[in-house]
Amino acid sequence: MPRDAPSPVGAGSALLKVTNIETYYGPIQAIRGVSLEVPDGRIVAVLGANGAGKTTILKTISGVMDPRKGQIVFDGREIQRMSPDRVMRLGICHAPEGREVFPFLTVRENLMMGAYTRRDRDAVARDMETCFGYFPVLQERQHQRASQLSGGQQQMLSISRALMGAPRVLLLDEPSLGLSPILVKQIFEIVRRINRERGTAILLVEQNAHIALETADYGYVIEVGRIVMEDECSRLMQKDDIKEFYLGQKDAGVRGRRRWKKKKLWR
Ligand SMILES: Nc1ncnc2c1ncn2[C@@H]1O[C@H](COP(=O)(O)OP(=O)(O)OP(=O)(O)O)[C@@H](O)[C@H]1O
Ligand SMILES: [Mg+2]
Repeated sequence: MPRDAPSPVGAGSALLKVTNIETYYGPIQAIRGVSLEVPDGRIVAVLGANGAGKTTILKTISGVMDPRKGQIVFDGREIQRMSPDRVMRLGICHAPEGREVFPFLTVRENLMMGAYTRRDRDAVARDMETCFGYFPVLQERQHQRASQLSGGQQQMLSISRALMGAPRVLLLDEPSLGLSPILVKQIFEIVRRINRERGTAILLVEQNAHIALETADYGYVIEVGRIVMEDECSRLMQKDDIKEFYLGQKDAGVRGRRRWKKKKLWR
């Protein structure tokens, strides 16, 4: 889909559609009826504070956790309660929180692990070259163990390993976490390129609202397991509550903070 076309979020044509999911850790309900859509070829962000439920949403989509209620439809097919392996084969690849790489495998072996479901060897080789093009340091270090990479380089490897699954939807869990501002900028430039050049749809969860709103087309705000606001990112950026509580623009002063403590509804 061309980047300048109006976003079809809400138009019912989404590639990935999550409806009213509820997910629990034992007796603890982490997700309390979340619905969201990722249209083909678009970037969608989920913003929220620590513990809001962002990671749990991604785990539920990728099959790592099963929702107790609700539906997840990918490309016309219900995928809730499918195994992670099956979900990945369908075309949803997950770069999990905290750059989980295989520390004792080399960079190259880590990348090959991302492609273990694929039989199209030529395309796998091309995708590895593409990853090396995005992150040249991974090519330089391809024969080193992943444990020898810096945190930022491991983040690059984690995103690249997910890309090696040739996803139609890429799930990214806080790619900015623990990285310097300049590295965050570089990594998000690559995220945009992946979307633009490969047409991969991206569902991005982030605490860094600045970079997420700059990168994504459409955004959802989650608090304590519920979506409290959603809109085009260009419009979210203009909303007072987003400016105040996510972008740190505290021009509303003490009065604004006091109002927030009392107020439950978002505007
Ligand atoms: N393994 C677990 N066992 C029990 N509760 C959990 C577990 N993992 C997460 N939770 C709870 O589920 C809720 C949502 O957690 P989740 O990890 O999805 O939040 P998050 O938005 O990704 O937070 P963060 O920004 O800190 O990564 C939190 O209240 C958390 O305490
Ligand atoms: Mg998380």
